[in-house]
Amino acid sequence: MHIKGSTRLISLLGDPVNHSLSPYMHNLSFENLGLDYAYMAFEIKKEKIKDAVDAMKTLNVRGFNVTMPYKEKIIDLLDEVDNQAKIIGSVNTVLNSKGKLLGYNTDGKGFVKALEEKKIDFKLKKVLILGSGGAAKSIAIQLALEGVKEIIIANRTIEKANIIVNIIKEHVKDVKINSINLNENKLKSEIINTDILVNTTSIGMREGFLDSPIKETKILHKDLFVADIIYKPQKTKLLSQAQERGCNTMNGLNMLIFQGALAFKIWTGKDMPNEVIDKILNK
Ligand code: ATR
Repeated sequence: MHIKGSTRLISLLGDPVNHSLSPYMHNLSFENLGLDYAYMAFEIKKEKIKDAVDAMKTLNVRGFNVTMPYKEKIIDLLDEVDNQAKIIGSVNTVLNSKGKLLGYNTDGKGFVKALEEKKIDFKLKKVLILGSGGAAKSIAIQLALEGVKEIIIANRTIEKANIIVNIIKEHVKDVKINSINLNENKLKSEIINTDILVNTTSIGMREGFLDSPIKETKILHKDLFVADIIYKPQKTKLLSQAQERGCNTMNGLNMLIFQGALAFKIWTGKDMPNEVIDKILNK
C-alpha cells in the first residue's frame, strides 16, 4: 500500500524464488520504518542473468539479493566485490551505489549474528561443520575470521571439504582447521570436545524430515550447542535429538533473518526492526 512514484525497488534474483521469505521480511520492515522502498522477487533463467543485472542498473534499484543458483556467477557481473565475499567466492547482497554495483556476502555474518543474539560464545571454541556446500563455506570462513579456535569440516565428499580447508588456511592465521569424512566413528571422536555443531547438509530437510546426519543420539553431549541451517521443518530430527540430550539449539530461521537484516542495513543504513524479527521467528 505504501508504493508511490518515488518508491525505489529492491529485489531478489534467483531460481526458484517463489518460497522466499525475503519479500515478506523486507516489505514488513520498510512499512514498519516508513521507508520508501519495495521488495520483489524475480525468477530468472540462466541465460537471462546478465540481462537481469543490467536491468537492475537501468531501473536504478537500491540493491538486490542473489540466491541459488547465481551466488557465484554474479561476481563477474558486478563492478566491485567486498573482500570477504571475494574470499568466500559468492555474493548474496548487492548495493547500487551511484550506478556501481557492489557485492557483499551476509550469509556467514548472518550466522554469526544469530549466535551472538543467542548469547553463544564462539571465540576460541571448537566448531564442527557438517557439509561443504555454499552455506558451509560462508559459515566456516566467517567463523575463522571471527576468532574460533578450531574448525572441523565433515563431508561425504572429502574433496569439497578440503577446498574450504585450503581457502581458510590461505586467508586466516591462528585457526586450526581440518576435514573428515562424514561417518559416525569420525564424528563421534570429534564431537567429544566440540563446542558448536552446525548442520549445513540437506539431511533432514522437507520430505527427508525423518533423517538426521547423526545416527547415534548419545554422541551429542549436553554442553554442545547445536545449530541446523534448515528451517523447513523448523525442528529437524537433529534438533529433536539434541534437545533430547539437553543441548541448546538454533534452527535455520535465525541465520535467514540475520543475513536479511545485514542486507537491510547495507541498503537502508537502518537496523531491521526487532518487531519484524520476533514476528518471523514466532510465525
Ligand atoms: P548449500 O549451497 O545450501 O550449502 P549444497 O551446495 O547443495 O547446499 O550442499 C549440500 C551439502 O549437503 C553438501 O555438502 C552435500 O554433500 P556432498 O558434498 O557430498 O554432495 C551434503 N549432502 C546432501 N545430501 C547428503 C546425504 N544424503 N548424505 C551426506 N551428505 C549430504
